[in-house]
Amino acid sequence: MSKTIIVSNRLPVQLQISEGKITAIPSVGGLATGMKSVHSGGESLWIGWSGLTQEEIPEDLVGDIDEALAGQGCSKVALSQEEVDGFYFGFSNRTIWPLFHYFMEYTEFEWDFWEAYEAVNRKFADAILEQTSEDDVVWVHDYQLMLVPEMLRAERPGLSIGFFLHIPFPSYEIFRTMPWRREVLAGLLGSDLIGFHTYDYERHFLSSVRRILGHEVSFNEIHLDDRVAKVDSFPMGIDYKKFHEAAIRHREMKPGEESDLQQRLNSHKASTPNAKFFLSIDRLDYSKGIAKRIKAFEYFLQKYPEYKEKVRLIILAVPSRSLVPQYQLLKKEIDELVGRINGEISTVSWTPIWYFYRSLPFDNLIDLYTTCDIAWLTPIRDGMNLVAKEYIATRTDQTGVLLLSEMAGSANEMHESLLINPNNFEQIADSLHQAITMPVSEQIARNAPMQKRLERYNVEKWARDFMDSLKAQQNRDYSQVAS
Ligand code: ADP
Ligand code: G6P
Repeated sequence: MSKTIIVSNRLPVQLQISEGKITAIPSVGGLATGMKSVHSGGESLWIGWSGLTQEEIPEDLVGDIDEALAGQGCSKVALSQEEVDGFYFGFSNRTIWPLFHYFMEYTEFEWDFWEAYEAVNRKFADAILEQTSEDDVVWVHDYQLMLVPEMLRAERPGLSIGFFLHIPFPSYEIFRTMPWRREVLAGLLGSDLIGFHTYDYERHFLSSVRRILGHEVSFNEIHLDDRVAKVDSFPMGIDYKKFHEAAIRHREMKPGEESDLQQRLNSHKASTPNAKFFLSIDRLDYSKGIAKRIKAFEYFLQKYPEYKEKVRLIILAVPSRSLVPQYQLLKKEIDELVGRINGEISTVSWTPIWYFYRSLPFDNLIDLYTTCDIAWLTPIRDGMNLVAKEYIATRTDQTGVLLLSEMAGSANEMHESLLINPNNFEQIADSLHQAITMPVSEQIARNAPMQKRLERYNVEKWARDFMDSLKAQQNRDYSQVAS
């Protein structure tokens, strides 16, 4: 029987070793949380990196680790510290991530990084080939593994290969600056189907393929020598039921059953009637615009001083890629901004910003989503932003206001939210004011259609659409293309 192989750099769990024991924690990020729902429901094998380097794994634990992962339908690609440094911290996160998010000034073009990227992509391809037969379907994910499809195709031409990019694909003018632009495009074109979150990313990709490789492109199909590669947009959804039902359970909790965080939130709400909580949740990443958001909050309080002591910004920033210098600088900047603003405007009874720098368990995420009146998610550039969708899914009474950046892929599907340009502080301050004063009837009128859409186009449907399209592509007759 043919099986589906999911491949991504990160597995859905990250392994850690403490006191000689292995523990597994859930991975954070849109790819892992989204695909986890797809993986747990089906007969798939997930191949990826465990989060530990070869040097960190004591030899006597290798068997235990493989067994623990196999129990979760996963198989690991072992990477050395040197490989992780060049491939993950290097090319993936110091070259591709900033370039594809339009942060040219952070982008480093280093040959050593590129060589490590190629070598690790090869290692992934070998691991996949070892565990795959010709009639399996391989679904490769994200920017860390863009060379894998071509490597697989060269060894096993008949294999059905899909690729999905979870981040933006930049415009040709940006993409063309990369010294390895041809190799990256050729790598991706090993796929039968290449998926993006939005039509814009798809268009940018097709434009680069045409202008850099000179391939014939008709509509969303790329004509190669012996086959056609199809490109399409599939906006990723969330596990709507999981979030919505968790929020219903949360609403039905009796006093005393609530988490410590929820109790703290409740007591602060009770002590300041009409207080509004703004919620900001992201990985700590410069593309998310967290520092700008804090500055915009300060500006909002200057423009609307009547909201002092009545609003609070809760920032949850999940540690991410902390060995990359730009992330370290951002952490420092955020620490300083929060410290300065809280120092300057706090009163005895009011701390304007609550800042958590950690990953929280799922139940605490639900506490925050369901308690905060306004979700303020304003990335400077974001492939999709699933947090915005999760917030709306948890609003069981359909109240709440979503303030969303136009630069997030999810803005395409959530046009009833208050869409803002993250660089326009005037607009942000006014939108926050609008959010605070928005009548409940208007909140419901905006959220109801978004909820309906999220429920219908959930992550399962997203994965099914992708797989159906991949299957249709595989069954095509290429005799005309070859002749
Ligand atoms: P990205 O993929 O760039 O990190 P997304 O918004 O698309 O951004 O996805 C983030 C995912 O990480 C969401 O599914 C969210 O539930 C999860 N997440 C965010 N913050 C936390 C946290 N503190 N603890 C656990 N999971 C989190
Ligand atoms: C984004 C990327 C994923 C990545 C995740 C977390 O969602 O698209 O590929 O896994 O961020 O980042 P990390 O570097 O910790 O894997």
